Amino acid sequence: MWKSIQYLSVILAVVCVQQLRADTPANCTYEDIRGVWEFSESEASAERSEVCNGSQVLLNKVRFELLFPNIAVDNFGNKGIWTIIYNQGFEVVINYRKYFAFSDYRQNGTNVSSLCHQTRPGWSHDVLGHNWACFTGLRISGSHEPKTYTTKLGGPVGVYRQNPHSIQQINSIQSLWTAKHYPHLEGKPLRDIHNMKGGPKSRILSPPAPAAVTDKDWRDALQLPDHFDWRNISGVNYVSPVRNQGSCGSCYAFSSMGMIEARLRVQSNNTVQEILSPQDVVSCSEYAQGCDGGFPYLIAGKYAQDFGLIPESCFPYTGAGDQCHEKKCRRYYTAHYDYVGGYYGACNEEAMRLALVRKGPISVSFEVYDDFMSYAGGIYKHTGVTHGLQFEPFEITNHAVLAVGYGVENGQKYWIVKNSWGTGWGESGYFRISRGSNECNIESIAVEAIPIP
Ligand SMILES: *[C@@H]1O[C@H](CO)[C@@H](O)[C@H](O)[C@H]1NC(C)=O
Ligand SMILES: *[C@@H]1O[C@H](CO)[C@@H](O)[C@H](O)[C@H]1NC(C)=O
Ligand SMILES: *[C@@H]1O[C@H](CO)[C@@H](O)[C@H](O)[C@H]1NC(C)=O
Ligand SMILES: *[C@@H]1O[C@H](CO)[C@@H](O)[C@H](O)[C@H]1NC(C)=O
Ligand SMILES: *[C@@H]1O[C@H](CO)[C@@H](O)[C@H](O)[C@H]1NC(C)=O
Ligand SMILES: *[C@@H]1O[C@H](CO)[C@@H](O)[C@H](O)[C@H]1NC(C)=O
Repeated sequence: MWKSIQYLSVILAVVCVQQLRADTPANCTYEDIRGVWEFSESEASAERSEVCNGSQVLLNKVRFELLFPNIAVDNFGNKGIWTIIYNQGFEVVINYRKYFAFSDYRQNGTNVSSLCHQTRPGWSHDVLGHNWACFTGLRISGSHEPKTYTTKLGGPVGVYRQNPHSIQQINSIQSLWTAKHYPHLEGKPLRDIHNMKGGPKSRILSPPAPAAVTDKDWRDALQLPDHFDWRNISGVNYVSPVRNQGSCGSCYAFSSMGMIEARLRVQSNNTVQEILSPQDVVSCSEYAQGCDGGFPYLIAGKYAQDFGLIPESCFPYTGAGDQCHEKKCRRYYTAHYDYVGGYYGACNEEAMRLALVRKGPISVSFEVYDDFMSYAGGIYKHTGVTHGLQFEPFEITNHAVLAVGYGVENGQKYWIVKNSWGTGWGESGYFRISRGSNECNIESIAVEAIPIP
């Protein structure tokens, strides 16, 4: 069984190895970032520094050009790679150093200006995780105009109500999936519901469209099975149990822990069955915003690589923004992480299937509409039915979850996805969602990371 998977990955000749919530108000696009940048960097220190708060002296200057699609090049012609990270910032890997910073912004009340041509204080270190420094970046070509917009502050007010008529309507207008009433959601504050599904600020208004499938991926994907499910590979389950994030906006942490937990099982032939601590991420990670959200790329990938993930028992989940307390715990690191396809904007269905079958479950995110809350089973496709006026279009959110498999039923292709709303929701905590048509943008920004068991 395990052999057959190894055999499969050999056949596939592994070559390409590699949500969600907009939680700083910065809103920068690829074109806002592409160009020539100057980074001012502090003296490197051997210490892993988590505090890059603008108080460091930044004397060393380095200059890079960030080119299409993901090539970085310095003055001497040395080449590296880069990617934007959602609409929030970017990461550059060049000359054996990694640089990451969030884009800068100013907020005054509900007015937000994204200063996409400069960064907030960011973190840099060599590719082995040593010689840490802080830096800020300034784009020295192109427009320096702030992009100003007005944001909606705070979450919705009121309580959640499911409309029995809407549930009936969903069940009568289509037969791919069924909706039902969830008594435990009834009467919950709308703010909690919003946190469950990504949070009020989580919408990425212009996620990248899926990229064209490369010739190589087309050929490789022909070898893939029609059905694949990491919960049952010839009777063996490689996926850790479904959990419940409660009303903290921590889906990104659960999606990330779920991916690393499953991949540790896959890589170790199920001998490492660790449950990891989303609370450590919520309370301690500078790369995320606690119960207000974060991103699988920065957690399953970057935080895990830079700081490591600790076992659940070391910092059990409370679902609140508890204080971080440093603990001496075993830490699990990632050796590599990437957007599926190689960079933000390179994702598509085939790249996702290949990544999933070759290395294990992948973090995905998708837009949660009101009808999804009442999903009971089947293959979800957005219907447009709402339970009232409580979810207006601008409150559509992005929710990070974990794709563990895929299949096809009566000609309808689907993904099998693990949610973090407990086992009482959906198909024992899972849902299936239409595959191949970028349903709710689920095929636009998948992330994968490779842990070290
Ligand atoms: C973010 O920027 C994109 C592209 O410039 C724009 O379409 C979108 O409306 C912006 N988002 C917000 C919240 O203003
Ligand atoms: C920034 O962090 C340093 C090191 O932890 C600390 O000494 C300093 O007070 C901080 N400065 C600000 C402005 O927060
Ligand atoms: C924020 O806006 C208010 C009202 O327009 C203005 O009085 C204030 O100076 C602004 N603050 C900053 C830091 O720009
Ligand atoms: C936000 O911007 C609008 C329009 O530019 C302005 O009328 C308003 O006073 C600003 N509010 C704050 C708090 O700055
Ligand atoms: C696993 O899949 C096989 C078919 O491939 C099926 O016979 C078996 O019942 C499944 N096991 C579980 C636990 O679902
Ligand atoms: C993986 O684990 C199974 C069950 O414990 C065992 O039968 C099998 O030999 C192991 N495979 C490898 C490659 O170690």
